Order: sequence, then structure tokens, then C-alpha cells
Amino acid sequence: MKKSLNHPVFQVVAEVLKEESRQGYAIGGYVRDLLLGRTSKDIDIVVLGSGIDLARKVADRLGIRQVSVFKNYGTAMIRHGDLEVEFVGARRESYRSDSRKPLVENGTLEDDQKRRDFTINALAICLHPSCYGELVDPFNGLKDLKKQVIRTPMDPERTFSDDPLRMMRAIRFAAQLHFAIGDQTYQAIESNASRLQIVSNERIMEELHKILLSTKPSLGLKLLEGSGLLREFFPELADLKGVDVREGIRHKDNFFHTLEVLDNLSPHTDKLWLRWAALLHDIGKPPTKKFSPSLGWTFHGHDYVGYRMIPGIFRRLKLPMNEKMKYVQKLVLLHLRPIALVDDQVTDSAVRRLLYDAGDDVEDLMLLCEADITSKNEKRVRRYLQNFKKVRQKMREIEEKDRIRNFQPPITGELIMETFGIKPSRQVGIIKDAIKEAILDGEIENDYHQAYQLMLEKGQELGLEPVHRR
Ligand code: CTP
Repeated sequence: MKKSLNHPVFQVVAEVLKEESRQGYAIGGYVRDLLLGRTSKDIDIVVLGSGIDLARKVADRLGIRQVSVFKNYGTAMIRHGDLEVEFVGARRESYRSDSRKPLVENGTLEDDQKRRDFTINALAICLHPSCYGELVDPFNGLKDLKKQVIRTPMDPERTFSDDPLRMMRAIRFAAQLHFAIGDQTYQAIESNASRLQIVSNERIMEELHKILLSTKPSLGLKLLEGSGLLREFFPELADLKGVDVREGIRHKDNFFHTLEVLDNLSPHTDKLWLRWAALLHDIGKPPTKKFSPSLGWTFHGHDYVGYRMIPGIFRRLKLPMNEKMKYVQKLVLLHLRPIALVDDQVTDSAVRRLLYDAGDDVEDLMLLCEADITSKNEKRVRRYLQNFKKVRQKMREIEEKDRIRNFQPPITGELIMETFGIKPSRQVGIIKDAIKEAILDGEIENDYHQAYQLMLEKGQELGLEPVHRR
């Protein structure tokens, strides 16, 4: 352990602790990650007495001028290279049931460890030279790390009622580390799930994002759903779960399908918003589900309904209402298009239209759609993926030839108005649209002269005459 504490910051902390005859410990995520062999850039140091005072002395000795002090929390932070070191006095806390604001008093190291979320996050390493490098582990965190289990140091009912966000954190750590959640801890999540209501959606999203960005997002999402937490903040997603059977016909479970899509996608991208698109691609299915004896189960228009649901979901969950949301909307709206191409003959004009509608996001759309093939029939999956290859090839050829991606029709509205001497009107739109359609259908090329000619023809059909400029 001593070897792992070779960062100069620890040496200096040790010196200061010795001079002042005080105790101090590295604690929390840094220690956990050290034992797991992962590197962490955040060091938390807990001291008996004032953390702010110690931070100032350490900073002084390291020649660091800036110490950020958060008086209300009794913490102070310094930066050393790319490390962030936070100092805090050991605390006891008690929380009122209606609020996350704790009442804080000074405490012992064990008081401080006890009030932490999980045993694996409550491990401390002594920094005073008398016990430098020794692990202080009153709650068997090391054993839990080895057994790969998430457990609270205290009665989980208490730990979660102190801060209900910890229920999300339990699942997030389980997902990131591929750990199990201890039985008692899991049961306490189930029975306290409704307490998540007092946590802000911003904080819930931070945890959800970490789950989505983990290597196998289904692990975390299954736990969220199974424990009842998911329904508390994301009922639309929880509604995807379940299978109906009528007249012996069943549909697939759209929740598990969605998780499979996410897992399929994750090796190909670490783009958060692409993973969000996968999470939401079938969100319009429950409201569009219908049964007809001739067709069986259908979800007609679920792409469009999903697209329409997204702004409401993003607003409520405090997600960005900007181009990130529009990107997710676009992928959800278009997610059936490449599959439709595979079913039909791949015509040039269908490919052109897809390139036009997807623009720069066409590659992400293809990744989503490939991940969306989750049939149990391996032959079918292979055939679809093979066909997607053909679609991609066709896209490359057409893009090279016609430059459709991000294309702006070569004739602008201004030019149409100027040519025919007209004001902004429906006619301008009709001509512009006709040119765009003709290019996408391959009737003319994406070329100024051909488009100009077509503009004159369409104008004539509408009874317009070009004005001759003097
Ligand atoms: N902690 C806690 N309860 C919380 C949040 C944090 O008890 N709701 C404690 C844990 O001991 C945790 C430490 O504060 O280890 C630091 O928290 P944080 O930086 O949020 O998490 P890390 O454990 O460092 O993990 P990560 O960096 O992956 O978020």
C-alpha cells in the first residue's frame, strides 16, 4: 500500500500531520480505485479537526497559491497538476427525513466512514507517519471488494434515507464494476424506491449517464427496473417492459430488446447521445401498440410518436433542450429507414433521401440500426447485417457522385424571387421543393445549371415569366 502512495502530495500531508500531531487519512473513491488498480484524479483526505486548516498548510508547503474553501461544508480543495485534492474534517451527520441537508458535527474517523454510502467507499488509508499506508477498514470494505459486492456500512434503510441518491449510486457502481448488490442492500432499494422523488433529476441523470456509458448498460438498467427505481423517474421506459399475448400471438418484450440494442451498440461508440437514441428508439411503442387478428401486434408510427415524446421527456429530466435533443429525435424518427431499405431493392433514390434526411448523422444512424437487429435467428441477423453492408456501399457511391449529405439545393429562394420578380410566397416553396425532389429522385443532378433549367420550367407551369434584368 505504501508504494501506491508515492505521490508527493501524500508525503507533504504526512509531514504536516506529524508536525501538528494530527491524524489524517486518504478515503473514499481514491482508495477504492487504488485497490482495484484503477487510477483516479480525485483524492479525498479526511482529518481529525479542521480540513481547511490542513489544506492551507499543505498548499503552502507545495507552493500552491490557490485554496478553494467551502466554509458551509467545512472543506477545502487544492489542485496539484491534474490532481484535485479535497480536505475535510471527519464528520458525523444526521439527516432530517424531508430534506437532503444534513446536520453536521465533528466526529471520529469511524463516524465519518460509517456515514458513507458503501463499504467499498468507506476504506481509509492512514497518512500519519506512525501508521503510513495502513488500511483502516472497520466495515469489511476490502472483503466486499474481493467478493465484488456493494453493501452499505450501516443498516441500508438508514444509509438510503440519509441520501436516496445512493440507491442510484449502488446500481451505478454495480454496473461500472460488474459487482453484485448485497441482498439486504437491494431489498432496501426496493422498499425505499419512492424516496428518490426528493432527489433532483440533474443528480439522477448524472448516475444514469454513468450507467449508459458503462460497457454493458443492460446490467444497470435491469437493476433499475427490477428494483422499482426506474419507474420513479422514467415511467415511459418502464412501460416498455412486458409481453402481451392474444390469440396465441405474443410480441417481444420491448424493454429487454432495448437493452440488447444498447449492449450491441456500446462496443461501437462511447457517444452518450447515441446511446440515448438507442435507449429511446422504441419509446413510442407502448402508446402505439395495437392488436389486429390479421396483422397480430403492430406499433405503427412508433418512430414518429417517439420523436414527439422526446422533448417532454428531456424537459422533465432536465436534459439539454438543444441540438443534442434534436440529434436524439432525428435518430429515433429515422431508425426504421435503413431497415426498410434492406427489405426492398436498394434504389438510388431511397438512399439519396436517407442521406439527405440524416445528413452528417447517417453513420450514427447506421450504427443504431445495426445494433437494432436482435433476432434470435442467427441466419437472419447475418443476412440483415450483410444487406446493411450493401446499403453502406451504395451510400458511399451515391455520396461520391451526388454529394447529397448536407446538400443545400443549388437554387435559393432569393434567386427564384429575383428571377421571376416575385415576393416571398407559396410559389417559391413549390419551385424549391420540386428542385430538391428532382435531385433526390435522380431526375436531375445536384448541379446549378440543371436546377436552373428546372426552375424555369416549373415557373412556367405556375404561369410565371422570368423578368429580364436591364
Ligand atoms: N459519498 C457518499 N454518499 C454520496 C456521495 C458520495 O457517501 N451520495 C462518499 C463516498 O465515500 C465516495 C466519496 O463520498 O467514495 C466521494 O464521492 P464521489 O466523488 O461522488 O464518488 P467516488 O466514490 O469518488 O466515485 P466516482 O468518482 O466514480 O463518482
